[in-house]
Amino acid sequence: MSDIASFSSPDLSGEVAREVAPEGAAALSLYIHWPYCSRICPYCDFNVTRDRGQSSQRALFEAILRDMRRQAEGLGPRQLASIFFGGGTPSLLPPDWVAELIAQAKRLFPYTDDIEITLEANPTDAEISRYQGFRAAGINRLSLGAQSLDDGALKFLGRNHSAAEAIRGIETAQKVFGRVSLDLIYALPDQTLDAWESELRAAAALGAEHISPYQLTIEQTTPFGRAVKRKLWSPPEEELAEGFYFRTQEVLESLGFEAYEVSNHARGKTARSAHNVLIWEGVDYMGIGPGAHGRLTREGIRTAMVSEKDLKTYTATADPIEAIPLTPSEAEEEALMLGLRLVEGVALNRLPTLPIREKAMPLIEQGLMKLTPDRLRATPKGRVVLDRLLFELLS
Ligand SMILES: C[S@@+](CC[C@H](N)C(=O)[O-])C[C@H]1O[C@@H](n2cnc3c(N)ncnc32)[C@H](O)[C@@H]1O
Ligand code: SF4
Repeated sequence: MSDIASFSSPDLSGEVAREVAPEGAAALSLYIHWPYCSRICPYCDFNVTRDRGQSSQRALFEAILRDMRRQAEGLGPRQLASIFFGGGTPSLLPPDWVAELIAQAKRLFPYTDDIEITLEANPTDAEISRYQGFRAAGINRLSLGAQSLDDGALKFLGRNHSAAEAIRGIETAQKVFGRVSLDLIYALPDQTLDAWESELRAAAALGAEHISPYQLTIEQTTPFGRAVKRKLWSPPEEELAEGFYFRTQEVLESLGFEAYEVSNHARGKTARSAHNVLIWEGVDYMGIGPGAHGRLTREGIRTAMVSEKDLKTYTATADPIEAIPLTPSEAEEEALMLGLRLVEGVALNRLPTLPIREKAMPLIEQGLMKLTPDRLRATPKGRVVLDRLLFELLS
């Protein structure tokens, strides 16, 4: 988290920015959702829509700016700690729109020079001039959705790029941003553990500082969900899926990537995704854009903010549709669920009322959890069955 005692003099080339956050200003992360994609992947159930160059995209961009201003009103003193452009495919955004969104965020909130600003990108938008435009706009970390380095797997996943294009995208991103993360998907039908290991090794050799390998999740409402329901193919059984998980941990660990979270591996602490770590540690985040979620502490109450999903309605209203105050026990349960994802686990002072020591004891005896005077964490064995641990701890 940023040190609020060492504020920068914001360089906004003429923008009027608040100069310093008042002492004690709480950290705030910002998530901006851009829903357009050049093709909709058959496994994806994010709030996405096909990019057909709609003229309404400009109005959506303006609604996002409006939404950010409105949510900032009355929030109290905040220190902007990170910005994350997710999607959808935010690498389809014109770089000057990205620049305007960042400039407005910096006008609304004080920030430090080292603020992490990430943009998710598809290999299809990996031209160097475009990346340079994003860099000039303020993006300093790129998360590239390579998904696979195998052409057969990319075809199965319905991606509109080849492995060679993904590799070129990584190389270009390395040159322009330095900080690069790769998303990969594993546990595909017929994939072998050895083939996955080779892919992981090849990905690591490309030099990215961060890798997020995700197990393929079959979402009911997607074409993959329907295909599995019709028994056209099936994902690996539980035991093999576990095998994929453990092989991933082993291989990446041996290549110098620390598994600092269930699906996130970094070459050292500075390579972690600051944005995600802040959220898992319970810092407030503002979700902007259609279908975005946020958590804002307002008048001392942690509040779940939910934005309208429908693009047209969101563009017309630019307002979160729901602001649901969390009860103290709901807030604690959420802190536990998020905190246990991290290798360091959850700080016990975030769980003042849950009878956590007593509930954790049997899990500690089974080697699934560890308790220190100030933290509770899952062991590597426990992280595979995190849902079970949470069930036991919260039942
Ligand atoms: C919302 S996408 C945005 C990134 C970008 N549009 C792309 O596809 O490259 C973020 C990541 O979620 C992961 N993802 C999406 N759906 C998934 C699923 N059903 N199973 C596993 N991973 C998934 C992909 O790895 C993807 O890179
Ligand atoms: S995986 Fe990425 S590109 Fe594919 S539909 Fe989802 S957000 Fe769009």
